[in-house]
Amino acid sequence: MVTHGVDLGDDLLEIGPGPGAATEWLRHRVRRLVAIELEPEAAAALRDRFAGTNVEVAVGDATALPYPDESFDTVGMFTMLHHVPTRALQDAILAGALRALRPGGTLIGSDSLPSDRLHQFHEGDTYNPVEPAAFLTRLQTIGFGEITVTVSDRLLFRARKTPGSGV
Ligand SMILES: C[S@@+](CC[C@H](N)C(=O)[O-])C[C@H]1O[C@@H](n2cnc3c(N)ncnc32)[C@H](O)[C@@H]1O
Repeated sequence: MVTHGVDLGDDLLEIGPGPGAATEWLRHRVRRLVAIELEPEAAAALRDRFAGTNVEVAVGDATALPYPDESFDTVGMFTMLHHVPTRALQDAILAGALRALRPGGTLIGSDSLPSDRLHQFHEGDTYNPVEPAAFLTRLQTIGFGEITVTVSDRLLFRARKTPGSGV
């Protein structure tokens, strides 16, 4: 579990919530959860599902996050990076997450590992899996510190906005 031992704080931003499986689990562990979703239909369904709760749903593109600097304690992204068409756009999401984190805040996430099966599943759809061996360096170059990348049945990652983070 990528959240194990992480202090999620009060304010959590979830990028690419899709149908909201992670949202439902996370929302009980923070004061406020903001979920930004690219697809208007998915966002509308999520808004209905979480109406009257501590979840705020926004339609938007996380490659240009519309939130002020240092406004979240945690940013989470689960099984969404491989839906982002280029590495540059993935990095824009990660850099935006770093910018939106408060000092000491944590990025948590997961993604599917590259596989032929997943490639076939995404035929005709965006499929741009993260290369696990290069991911730690990417996070480090963007400015994260205290980075952990775990490869098991999927890719799990955790990184912090440490005092040395370059934003
Ligand atoms: C596989 S689903 C995510 C599943 C979900 N996170 C979960 O844990 O069950 C990927 C989602 O990311 C969204 N997404 C892709 N690119 C995005 C972007 N640039 N900004 C925001 N959401 C994005 C897609 O619309 C889709 O709903």
